[in-house]
Amino acid sequence: MNIDELKSTARAIVAAQKGVLAADESGPTIKKRLDAIKVEANEANRRRYREILFTSAGIEQYIGGVILYDETLRQSTSDGIPFAELLARRGIMPGIKVDKGVSPLALHPGEKITEGLEGLRERLLEYKQLGARFAKWRAVIEIDEHDIPTPYAIRANAHALARYAALCQEAGIVPIVEPEVLMDGSHSIERCAAVTSSVLKYVFAELDSHGVALEGILLKPNMVIPGIKCAQQATVQQVADATMHCLTSSVPAAVPGIVFLSGGQSAEDATDHLNAMNRQVAHPWQVSFSYGRALQAPVLAAWKGLEDNVALAQETFFRRCQLNGLARDGKYTR
Ligand code: 13P
Repeated sequence: MNIDELKSTARAIVAAQKGVLAADESGPTIKKRLDAIKVEANEANRRRYREILFTSAGIEQYIGGVILYDETLRQSTSDGIPFAELLARRGIMPGIKVDKGVSPLALHPGEKITEGLEGLRERLLEYKQLGARFAKWRAVIEIDEHDIPTPYAIRANAHALARYAALCQEAGIVPIVEPEVLMDGSHSIERCAAVTSSVLKYVFAELDSHGVALEGILLKPNMVIPGIKCAQQATVQQVADATMHCLTSSVPAAVPGIVFLSGGQSAEDATDHLNAMNRQVAHPWQVSFSYGRALQAPVLAAWKGLEDNVALAQETFFRRCQLNGLARDGKYTR
């Protein structure tokens, strides 16, 4: 393993002002996003939409890495430049989602396990040749008020994340380790904090026993936030305090960066929360973003599939990148 290369890739992705654009929606997920703006989810439209994002002026100031989907990594701009090459030329690291989505966890009703370890070593080699410098694997942790997640579901998902991370590092690819405790449901912020802490402890124990070098990973956690149906919602400061408290007690200082997912928060909330966390006392890691919906929802709403709206969509995208770039340094004001 070339740890120096892994470290410098990880650090470049979360350099000052920068975070990650998650543009790795799978076929069914991007279809949902395009359906919502009444655009047919065919290959041409998926390619055009991603091209609009990746060719937006100025985003390299705020975006250190873009996570692509298998299809997207193989696509090119209208004038034939592969997306990975276009991003690399702009100083943005190309990344790739490598998990194959979730299945029900056997004998554990309501819980999930992420698939995709089989053949992963070979896929990583190909992705590296296609230009990927980092990867993503998302574990989905269901949560309710009492019984879910079970310790076994947490352990099984943590184990899979660690096997993936070790394979990535073997291939010279920085793994983004993403254990996502969902926001769905009516659980309290305290319940989210307890579950998130437990998940992170299992994840770091498994990473350790698999020999993964923490200096060469990025962690992509959920924020500590009440379920969307919880009667008691939290203020921006409460989310920031609870999240930083949880991370401080669970995430080793050797991890270079924490890049949050947005998980269904509005674009504005996701920026506010990130900003509040970066206004807190010094922390050992870079605290940044790896947003999908919170960066893209306003862009899709501006574009609507119309060429006439492309300039507006790109300005909208630049603006969201800029605001999160400011928030990632605690310098954002609404
Ligand atoms: P959201 O920010 O929309 O949660 O997406 C981030 C992501 O990559 C989830 O795996």
